[in-house]
Amino acid sequence: MQTISQLVPLRSAVDALKVDGPLALVPTMGALHDGHLTLVREARKHAAHVAVSIFVNPRQFGPNEDLDAYPRQLARDSALLQAEGVSLLWAPTAEAMYPAGYATNISVDGVSAGLCGAARPGHFDGVATVVCKLFNQVRPDCALFGEKDWQQLAVIRRMARDLDLTAPHVDGIIGVPTVREADGLAMSSRNAYLDPAQRAQAACLPRAMQAAIAAMRGGADYAAALAALRGELLAGGFHTVDYAEVRGADSIALQAGPGAEAGRLFVAARIGSTRLIDNLPV
Ligand code: PAF
Repeated sequence: MQTISQLVPLRSAVDALKVDGPLALVPTMGALHDGHLTLVREARKHAAHVAVSIFVNPRQFGPNEDLDAYPRQLARDSALLQAEGVSLLWAPTAEAMYPAGYATNISVDGVSAGLCGAARPGHFDGVATVVCKLFNQVRPDCALFGEKDWQQLAVIRRMARDLDLTAPHVDGIIGVPTVREADGLAMSSRNAYLDPAQRAQAACLPRAMQAAIAAMRGGADYAAALAALRGELLAGGFHTVDYAEVRGADSIALQAGPGAEAGRLFVAARIGSTRLIDNLPV
């Protein structure tokens, strides 16, 4: 596995890999867990070579968010990727990604509104901007993202369509189902912030979501099911529920009840200083 942190050597490394066939990209911010490694394994099914990027992107963190505390473990991550047969680790420096004078922002309307877009102003501009740059830098044939960040996936799909980031550049934005711990908690780099008591309490998030979905599928009023879900989270150890909403899976438009578009339940809730998100089909 080659590890590269500057653009010029990246370009020649990518050219050499692409001689063998399609190249898949798995964009990450590091602190890799089984969810990321699942993306890598899935990527190998789609391409001759897999490239992984690790870049903790400052533009997607708000002023009061956890940028400085975000776990950085490049040596450990690199060993994990090497063991998975990854061909290229693209770990750009902040200066390589955003050189002095950098001034361009990508903003995706519609799907960025609401949910994390409302709770974290500017977050999806930061994501869209860095992912567009990663696509231009690595020029992959496909890119894989976890469905845990469903709204992010919707933003990236919209951006890829709108900006014609299509074959041979990126012709597949592939969503991979969320990987969960044995108690149902979605894997996330942020789970590392939970102390043992919070970690045990956090399992009430997927449980309460499943219960709300069962109620809605059984004909319960969405508003009542979501109110019960909020109550369960607050009783179960979460101190704030940022949102608990059903939205269209593609449009991310709010749904007050069953509609033509498949619905998805989206929740973000805070336990201690950690904000967890999850989503499931209704
Ligand atoms: O999901 C993530 O880890 C990040 O948002 C991404 C897609 C790597 C962009 O920084």
